[in-house]
Amino acid sequence: MFTSKISGLGHYVPENVVTNDDLSKLMDTNDAWIQERTGIKERRHIKKGDGNSTSIMGVKAANIALERAGLTSDDIDFIIFATLSPDMYFPGGGVQVQDLMGMGTVPALDVRNQCSGFVYAISVADQFVKTGMYKHVLVIGSENHSGGLDMTTRGRGVSVIFGDGAGAAVVSRSDSDEGGILSTHLHSEGKHKDELALQGPSTGKWVPEIIAENPQDDIPYYPYMNGQFVFKNAVVRFSEVIMEGLQANGLSVSDIDMLIPHQANLRISQFIQKKFQLSDDRVFNNIQKYGNTTAASIPIALTEAWEAGKIKKGDLVVLAAFGSGFTWGSAIIRW
Ligand code: UT7
Repeated sequence: MFTSKISGLGHYVPENVVTNDDLSKLMDTNDAWIQERTGIKERRHIKKGDGNSTSIMGVKAANIALERAGLTSDDIDFIIFATLSPDMYFPGGGVQVQDLMGMGTVPALDVRNQCSGFVYAISVADQFVKTGMYKHVLVIGSENHSGGLDMTTRGRGVSVIFGDGAGAAVVSRSDSDEGGILSTHLHSEGKHKDELALQGPSTGKWVPEIIAENPQDDIPYYPYMNGQFVFKNAVVRFSEVIMEGLQANGLSVSDIDMLIPHQANLRISQFIQKKFQLSDDRVFNNIQKYGNTTAASIPIALTEAWEAGKIKKGDLVVLAAFGSGFTWGSAIIRW
């Protein structure tokens, strides 16, 4: 078995900043409610005509990650693309990225695991690198939420939370046989699939069917979230999967140098921080600036933490995610 490591990181967010006050002009909400319940101050939304899409943002993040890894797109053996908001229903974002980056005929895989998408994608990349099948895997998490949210008071419980952006990591075979990605841990529980979901358009809810039904009353084409139920499950699963990862490596909470939780809600991150008694410098949050960017949230946060010098060689970095499906997972990395 080979050792795998993250050799490069990058992120991209659209320039257009949307504050809580901006949202309060579109729906019955306010800055105090949003900050108190979620910690979010602002998020980025793609602006029509700014040239961005899910795959284009992914490419921008990927180019930075490649440069930092000292690689070019020609070095990449495999593309893994995680999103819940692809440019088109099919084909997936992986081949869009491949085309935009002129990457020949390397395989491209799409991961559909919502907020856990990046951790799932890292896990897949890790297996391929550890077994020796591939040397460099490009992993991207990217989301364009803003075009598909209900920006009226009806959708306020969901729409104020989500933002657009992309993050990327290159997972590479390591020269050293120590450290790197130590292990990944994945779970899902489909019985809760309807608690955070977007029904259509899909084969279960095609566009003609949606249009035939009264669009005022039937809103399967906007995301639905049972917020409190999701919150309660999130805090339990985050804790479990972090502990599972630590125990699998004979480590404990006191060994964590940096926890990068999926940025779902600042209150969830703070709950975990308090439960594990982690000091502020051992948990990284940036939901205040970007909202919840789903599959992009961990790579954006990981990149920013690394850029700020908060992750150093030898540090134990823990990634943890929970979201729609429900799906959840963790990755334990010795930097
Ligand atoms: O990333 C994937 C995983 N997602 C999560 O982990 C999200 C987990 N859930 C949450 O983060 C929280 O449940 C939310 C932030 C979504 C909601 O916070 P909450 O404290 O659970 O609020 P709530 O849904 O219980 O709503 C409380 C009140 C309601 O009014 P009434 O019924 O008490 O009169 C809502 O209608 O707040 C109202 N409300 C709002 N008010 C102002 C809901 N959204 C808003 C809003 N602005 N944007």
